[in-house]
Amino acid sequence: MNATRKRALVTGGAGLIGSHIADLLIQQGWRVRILDNLEPQTHKNGKPAWIHPEAEFIQGNVQDYGTMLSALSDIDVVFHEAAYGGYMPEMAKYVLVNSFGTAQMLEIIRDHKLPIQKVIVASSQAVYSEGAAQCEVHGHVVPFLRRTEQLRGGDFQVHCPVCGRMTTSIPTPEGTPGGGETVYALTKVDQERLVLLWGKQTGIPTVALRYSCTYGPRQSLFNPYTGVIAIFCTRLLNGLPPIMYEDGGQTRDLCFVEDIAQANLLAATSDKLDGLPVNVGSGRATSVRDLAGIIAEQLGVAIDPVARGEFRPGEIRSLISDISRIRTIGYEPRVRLEEGIARYIEWIKTQGAVEDYFSKAEQGLREKGIVQNIARPSALA
Ligand SMILES: NC(=O)c1ccc[n+]([C@@H]2O[C@H](COP(=O)([O-])OP(=O)(O)OC[C@H]3O[C@@H](n4cnc5c(N)ncnc54)[C@H](O)[C@@H]3O)[C@@H](O)[C@H]2O)c1
Ligand SMILES: [Zn+2]
Repeated sequence: MNATRKRALVTGGAGLIGSHIADLLIQQGWRVRILDNLEPQTHKNGKPAWIHPEAEFIQGNVQDYGTMLSALSDIDVVFHEAAYGGYMPEMAKYVLVNSFGTAQMLEIIRDHKLPIQKVIVASSQAVYSEGAAQCEVHGHVVPFLRRTEQLRGGDFQVHCPVCGRMTTSIPTPEGTPGGGETVYALTKVDQERLVLLWGKQTGIPTVALRYSCTYGPRQSLFNPYTGVIAIFCTRLLNGLPPIMYEDGGQTRDLCFVEDIAQANLLAATSDKLDGLPVNVGSGRATSVRDLAGIIAEQLGVAIDPVARGEFRPGEIRSLISDISRIRTIGYEPRVRLEEGIARYIEWIKTQGAVEDYFSKAEQGLREKGIVQNIARPSALA
């Protein structure tokens, strides 16, 4: 056994991003331990077959002190991917898994003086309130979150905070003020701040990677609350139209999971970005409507997406990640959207029958105000 091999703990390593990080690290000669509780919402069929046979697998919860203490022993770098995600109805669970789980993990490392050399935390573009924008009069502006009353009135545009004119979306750099406008986003802000602050206190290097919308093989086909590409695929494969919120004109920076894994490896092996929040994405924007079209075409299904006059308070309208910071350590997105979607669809075809879970979940989301109706559906025409 080579004693100099780096040792990684990948929390959430059974999931989409964590499992690809684990594979890449093993390919690069690392020793990898995975800690994952196999959240039933995500892993309906139990432990997934894709977990690398060379990875040590611990089934356990990040909330459990003893489990975390043993998972963190003899580790050099932590890739903290375990989280509760998306637009799920729970509130307390987000705080427990994401905020509490992260705070406790950091305390364990500090209080037991574990010789961890770096902690990389999975943050999110969701920490921004709205993407950066350009006003024709005021130039680069930082728009406010769109008010719920504005969305209810059917106006989905992002207005200049100075003059109210409509703006155009521009790449969002890390310095853009944010805050966390959904429960999930709030806990992502918590995780990122906790890790970066703790890094300053302890002197242990940290990086918070703000992933854009990530997709690719292994993205759960069971979770109706997160992963627009997975949800649109399962709807279309069941002969149902993808449901778009607002008018489908929201834009997202969609990033293939292998590119996100590449960013993690670079952040682990370079010290240039230590102590910083860092965007990771494709640097390209795609509207939700165009995305639905691309997926339908690739599936060979002639079903158009529908906008039913709904919106989600706190949703970002337009987001393109400014990826100049991560590029300084050699990152380059390699997989273009069309190719990435083709690879995801290839994978779906190996997964047996695909069920639509979205329809069952959506009534609950409406009842809890997570999805709301606009007052003037004619605004969609
Ligand atoms: N997928 C995206 O678009 C995206 C975007 C931005 C940030 N992120 C972040 O990246 C990370 C990974 O996301 P993903 O897309 O791979 O999601 P995922 O759901 O595929 O993976 C998360 C994994 O964490 C595990 N997990 C959940 N709660 C846990 C707990 N209490 N204890 C132990 N394990 C637990 C789940 O079983 C799952 O395997 C998350 O922190 C997420 O917030 C994801
Ligand atoms: Zn203006």
